[in-house]
Amino acid sequence: MCAPQLLFLILAAAASVDAVTYNVTAPTEWWQKNVIYEVWVESFKDSDGDGKGDLNGIKSKMEHFVDLGVTCIWLPPIYETPMVDSGYDISNFTAVNTDYGTLDDFDALVTAAHELGLKVIIDFVPNHTSDEHEWFLKAKQGIEPYYSYYVWNKGVYYGDYLSYPNNWLDVFNDGTVWEWVDEREAYYLHQFSVHEVDLNWTNPLVMSEMKNVLTFWLDHDVDGFRIDAAPYYVESSTLENETRSDKDVDSSNYFYLNHTQTKDQPENYPIVKEWKEHINNYTASKGNDKVRFICTEGYSDIEYVMKWYDYDDDFPFNFYFIKDGDIANDAVIDTAEDIYDIFIEWLDNMPSGKTANWVLGNHDMNRIATRIGLYRTDGLHLSTLLLPGVFTMYNGDELGMTNTYLTWAETTDVRACSTTNTTYTLYSRDPVRTPYQWDNTTSAGFSTNSTTFLKVNPDYVTVNLAAEKEADFSHYQNIQKAIALRNTTVWEEGTVDVELIEDQMVGIARQLDGENPIVVLMNWENSTVTVDLDDYFDGLPDTLELVIADMYSGLNDNVGDTYEKSSIEVPEHGSMVLLGVSS
Ligand code: GLC
Ligand code: MG
Repeated sequence: MCAPQLLFLILAAAASVDAVTYNVTAPTEWWQKNVIYEVWVESFKDSDGDGKGDLNGIKSKMEHFVDLGVTCIWLPPIYETPMVDSGYDISNFTAVNTDYGTLDDFDALVTAAHELGLKVIIDFVPNHTSDEHEWFLKAKQGIEPYYSYYVWNKGVYYGDYLSYPNNWLDVFNDGTVWEWVDEREAYYLHQFSVHEVDLNWTNPLVMSEMKNVLTFWLDHDVDGFRIDAAPYYVESSTLENETRSDKDVDSSNYFYLNHTQTKDQPENYPIVKEWKEHINNYTASKGNDKVRFICTEGYSDIEYVMKWYDYDDDFPFNFYFIKDGDIANDAVIDTAEDIYDIFIEWLDNMPSGKTANWVLGNHDMNRIATRIGLYRTDGLHLSTLLLPGVFTMYNGDELGMTNTYLTWAETTDVRACSTTNTTYTLYSRDPVRTPYQWDNTTSAGFSTNSTTFLKVNPDYVTVNLAAEKEADFSHYQNIQKAIALRNTTVWEEGTVDVELIEDQMVGIARQLDGENPIVVLMNWENSTVTVDLDDYFDGLPDTLELVIADMYSGLNDNVGDTYEKSSIEVPEHGSMVLLGVSS
């Protein structure tokens, strides 16, 4: 069973400087040290030349994960699917998408990963099935128990006019969540695409079916699950209308309403707890000490997100760097203070004994380098990687990959196709799902086929892994170095101070008696800051060595130089990682 994990305690303000220090105890389980690397299966590596990524492609690139230093890969849905929502619309939870390979290929991939000491987690998508799932095909014919696996409603009559039971809207902006089925003379509910039919999580049979799904993949030796769409499982049984939001969007847009009845319902939490218990029981029944973890996906206010920790979720994703809940995809990260606030909000709110999480990118949100600028992307990565907690990285972010521009005609994402040729870029997830850029050969080394499922970003000629490995300095090498620093005792056990410096820089210090401290300085603005570290942190040694400098700091040639702590000049939008030098 899980021992107490990372433990954070807020200590009293230190004597000489007005700092808040968080205590950290060493990770006791492998996943607490994780860098989880999200492999977008469709775009990572094509092994058979059809222009789409596949499992054998991933297996052929295992050395990339090892080189980068990540410890765990996460595979988004690899299951049988009509591919309406890139595989999140699942027609068979225990079969592999034939475009991606076979179950044997999956087993071989897991074995290869384990041989290299890597862990593999997979997406668990319990909110909905595809409308082509056998359960739904039977449900549409009125066959029980399948009919009751879904959420149905007969609608409401206004005189002779039949209408939806309420005003609820789907996440993908195509209007009502209710879809009429003639054969049943009833509507079914879908919180996402009309082809993703919500399961009825008040039905215990659904729970037992989905536990069988978990068991199936546990039998295939996965190391954990990323749990999809956790705020959406249960909808309010009162079916009350949702109120109008203050957003100026049209009435079919998801952001037209406040989602008080369809999101973050209290019934969701015990469901996740039951899955975790099921996984633990499975492990116990096998009589081994394999440790698995789960994490949940949900874009919600902090109180709802933190609550997952109380229900045996190992951690909820920390999405505050990617989304602020507003219409646009992006979180507001305009100032150093915004970043400082995100760090502190999580550390302050997380229950003690739990493990933090930091996410800078995923398959649903604009690329971090596009959102904050390439010249700042190293800095944000270095800072978050060196805070305690699990770091979740989206493939390509380690190269500084940016969004690929796609025209309306080239757009395939279901969330964007329901919008218009003038608004689609606000919603489309295609720009972050284009092929991984391995090298400067055909299709960026992703495929031998010059036509790929989404086009390759034209910048692949210079932005690619091979080039970044060869260069003297690169995003890739910086991120690799920061990941390596996570293997130090000071990263594992050191206290953490996070400071806002002159309103334009975030400073982080990790300290532990007897170990050389790690200091990160991230200057967000376009002017130089000279800092006396004693004004912000207690107990640092007089001299520190520059071990990582961001790509655009102009300090690349200074790596290895030492600096006096009383006066460190941090160039405009420059970031530095320094290691204390013992005297
Ligand atoms: C999650 C996935 C997203 C998907 C949705 C519906 O938000 O990350 O890609 O469209 O769930 O399954
Ligand atoms: Mg639901």
